[in-house]
Amino acid sequence: MKIDGRHYRSLWWNATADVLEIIDQRWLPHELRIQPVATLQDFADAIREMRVRGAPLIGATAAYGMARAMADDPSDQALDAAHRFLSDTRPTAVNLRWALDRCRDALRPLPPDRRAAAALELAHAIAEEDVEINRRIGEHGLKLIRDIAARKPAGEPVRILTHCNAGWIATVDWGTATSPIYQAHDAGIALHVWVDETRPRNQGALTAWELGSHGVPHAYVVDNAGGHLMQHGLVDMVIVGTDRTTRRGDVCNKIGTYLKALAARDNGVPFYVALPSPTIDWTVADGVAEIPIEERAAAEVTHVQGRAADGRVASVQVTPRGTGAANPAFDVTPARLVTALITERGICPATPEGLAGLFPELARAAE
Ligand code: MRU
Repeated sequence: MKIDGRHYRSLWWNATADVLEIIDQRWLPHELRIQPVATLQDFADAIREMRVRGAPLIGATAAYGMARAMADDPSDQALDAAHRFLSDTRPTAVNLRWALDRCRDALRPLPPDRRAAAALELAHAIAEEDVEINRRIGEHGLKLIRDIAARKPAGEPVRILTHCNAGWIATVDWGTATSPIYQAHDAGIALHVWVDETRPRNQGALTAWELGSHGVPHAYVVDNAGGHLMQHGLVDMVIVGTDRTTRRGDVCNKIGTYLKALAARDNGVPFYVALPSPTIDWTVADGVAEIPIEERAAAEVTHVQGRAADGRVASVQVTPRGTGAANPAFDVTPARLVTALITERGICPATPEGLAGLFPELARAAE
């Protein structure tokens, strides 16, 4: 998508310097910093420290990390070690494991001297696939937005609430939850997006930055505003992303998503999840019991980062000194609260049959 009129992806390969270039998301929305990721350690740090973040982008970055590892040492031992090293960076988004498994399984049968080139080609393919998956999610989601727009008085915007950042910056391009929004806006449908702040790391500010760059009308709201907005008929639909969706349709996403789903159910607001197929974990049924939830540093809760009056990006403490904090980064929304899943192959109910109906070959392979 575009920043100041220029098209960007959230990562790209610099063949001359033999490095991956990323937009360092720790500085957004205040500063656009492009950073090279060169060594295997850099790749792990970029994922763990959330310079790159968002389930699909983590997966694509990890694939380039495997390419780096194979260029350094294409042995079997190095392949397994890189897989383990990168898997250990973040536990919840399943795209990480999906991409690493896919790379290991494709590279293992090859002679070592062919692995480096094949790994780089595979990383490019994973990145391109992500773009196409998200574009298609947008096409399917657009139909839902169009239907709501058709039922509203002419000129009244469709009001969409979203949580976290499931935007182009969380993927290679388009975003998942934002892809239908961008496509609806480009199709001339009037929209108004409620952007949840998404404490503690304020990924909503990334969403606001993206929407603003694309000209989509929006307002930034605190995380606790959603229920109130829904009670007053100010939300027509919720669309969120997902970090891992189980084979029965339970959705693990950024902390606070579950509360939005409860409020949506109580107020008869449809709750949609934009779901790329690599985010389905076919090995897991019960999301609450089985998905590992990342616990991040307390400092993310006790401090907030923003732009200070002198223009510098600064971090300030919001709690009394010595106050402890807990920081579970994700929660699970049970399938029963999800109106439908928007995938690259179409829209389905959040049920085992719904997912297996759209992805029969993946469901069978996991049996
Ligand atoms: O901790 P983050 O910022 O990586 O979490 C990201 C999210 O929870 C997104 O909503 C999710 O990955 C869907 S992104 C397309």
